[in-house]
Amino acid sequence: MITSPWPVNIDRDTEGRVSVGGILVEDLLAEYGSPLLVTDEDDFRARCRAYRHAFRGATIAYASKAWCTTGVLQIADEEGLWIDVVSGGELQTTQHAGVPMEHVVFHGNNKSVDEIEHAVDCGVARIVADSIEELHRIEAIGAERSQQVTCWLRITPGIDAHTHEYVRTGHDDSKFGFSIALGLAEEAITVALGLDHVEVVGIHAHIGSQIFGTDPLVANVDTLIGLLASWRTAHGITLTEMNVGGGMGIRYTHEDHPVGVGRYGDAVKSALEAACGRLGYPEVALFVEPGRALIGPSTVTLYTVGTVKKLPGLRTWVSVDGGMSDNIRPALYQAEHEVILANRNGSDTMVPMTVVGKHCESGDLVRERAPLPEDIAPGDILAVAATGAYTASMASNYNQLTRPAAVLVSDGESRLLMRRETMGDVLSRDISLR
Ligand code: LLP
Repeated sequence: MITSPWPVNIDRDTEGRVSVGGILVEDLLAEYGSPLLVTDEDDFRARCRAYRHAFRGATIAYASKAWCTTGVLQIADEEGLWIDVVSGGELQTTQHAGVPMEHVVFHGNNKSVDEIEHAVDCGVARIVADSIEELHRIEAIGAERSQQVTCWLRITPGIDAHTHEYVRTGHDDSKFGFSIALGLAEEAITVALGLDHVEVVGIHAHIGSQIFGTDPLVANVDTLIGLLASWRTAHGITLTEMNVGGGMGIRYTHEDHPVGVGRYGDAVKSALEAACGRLGYPEVALFVEPGRALIGPSTVTLYTVGTVKKLPGLRTWVSVDGGMSDNIRPALYQAEHEVILANRNGSDTMVPMTVVGKHCESGDLVRERAPLPEDIAPGDILAVAATGAYTASMASNYNQLTRPAAVLVSDGESRLLMRRETMGDVLSRDISLR
């Protein structure tokens, strides 16, 4: 058994051949083509259950931005999770998946009027208002329909999650939400209380992603309960719902050491209890919305090696048949995903190699300094760990590459989640001038 950061049902036989969900990776590639995303269904379901268990009593919403595909949403729904969406497209995919709309939360810092109307008309559970303009837009839409729209306010709590700049959202100078320190949260609740068709029932704050410790999440809970208590005093309202966002870190390599889901759950629940106790605030309904921690480690990407370029005294370049179009994370965040040879036992001598994609760009990196067997050769299969979150969902057609297929594996059976894109798909929206 290969341990984390890999899915639980990944294995390697004595010949070094890796299987996922009981199927050899070479058989998966023979059937579905390369590159390929492979999701271990049991692993994903187990993570959904672990979150529900660790945060017992809370509602867990799957942050669909991590990977918004029908099958993944259906499994999350079957496991009793709600779904968080941030666009009309994610909302429509969630509808396509048959998720009950009363289990959907709609976020976003710049929702269009059309998107809000659609969300109101299909009956999503909560809309998370992100700006004063948006509060007025929701009010107008509610008024047209003579209905109250149930909302949360997105709060910017002024907490630095100590993570990559692009995935930090809790600090005051952010495009998201109403900053407490800058007085915007106060303005938002004051405005909202004056609106007839906006019913604020709670607050939300997501402070960032790939957080390894519990302190930022505990600070978030303390700040949010403090805010609710101050509104009770100042405005005489007692809001009863609080969403602390997602952001729980995962292992991409053996060097990553996030705390386990149990510790996240314990820390958040006890911080909530303590803060409510301290301030005499009544029980609030807790919501948590992880994305990466649920689907990220359940999925691996398989690539086929095309060329191996050995530059004596410099390095070895290993090129695979995908790259930044199917996983932009290494190029965008300097993210490191563990890489292994997956179709055989290589030589015992491991050499650090630069694994790159096939795009016309030097930043097209899969993994810098991946320790791989010296005899790696064209035709070998590489498996890349923890590619379920923010890879397929951020994929592109750069260099007119078609996007890979994705399969779900369990107990020796595989099912398509997404078929491979064809050039026909790509050209279908490309209009000839001739
Ligand atoms: N809730 C809200 C409001 C969010 O903005 C996010 C992530 C989440 C929940 C889920 O966060 P998670 O548990 O997945 O960390 N593309 C980046 C991550 C961007 C995260 C954006 N928001 C990456 O590949 O690392």
